[in-house]
Amino acid sequence: MSQISSIAVVSATSRVDSTTAQIVAHYRDMLERNHGCSSELLDLKELPLDFLNAVLYQKDRNSHPGWASWQSKVNAADKFVFVIPEYNGSFPGILKCFVDALQFPRSLRGKKASMIGISDGTQGAALAMSHFGDVLNYAGVTTLALRPRFIEVNKHWDGQRFSNPIYQNLFEEHVKQTVGM
Ligand SMILES: Cc1cc2nc3c(=O)[nH]c(=O)nc-3n(C[C@H](O)[C@H](O)[C@H](O)COP(=O)(O)O)c2cc1C
Repeated sequence: MSQISSIAVVSATSRVDSTTAQIVAHYRDMLERNHGCSSELLDLKELPLDFLNAVLYQKDRNSHPGWASWQSKVNAADKFVFVIPEYNGSFPGILKCFVDALQFPRSLRGKKASMIGISDGTQGAALAMSHFGDVLNYAGVTTLALRPRFIEVNKHWDGQRFSNPIYQNLFEEHVKQTVGM
């Protein structure tokens, strides 16, 4: 078991009513209930409305009142969980924009992360996690080997938990390994 860490769980889409956000809520609940770990939520749907115009690639972005708290939460976390939906065969563009907006290299270098992939199709965001794993590696993040791919996710998700016990068991194993990494 590793030392006590500060975990941030990232809902990696800005889509309203996403399955990703529901699974993130379940992940945080499992962290708390199974392991007594509180976590920070980073829901990309809640990024400032003017994120693309007034934050991303702006030199003075850290004086943007709606962005400063995001950077602070990332600075405070030493471990991240990314729940990643598959969009057009990869991860959502907003996730790359989020990483691009963070201070480099101090935001992520030397930290740890795990990933979960979901999709309506039969890839389960395998390529999305591979692509984003390369981004994390570039940023100096160590990633957990276990990367569950929840294919046809909406057939196995009841809105609060996985209705398929194989999925739910794998999910809980991922939470456990993330806590222990
Ligand atoms: C812009 C967009 C692109 C998508 N591309 C794919 C895809 O390439 N493969 C796939 O299996 N599902 C794709 N989906 C369906 C998502 O996997 C599905 O919506 C799933 O519930 C996860 O996304 P969500 O968290 O936005 O709900 C796409 C959905 C959106 C909104």
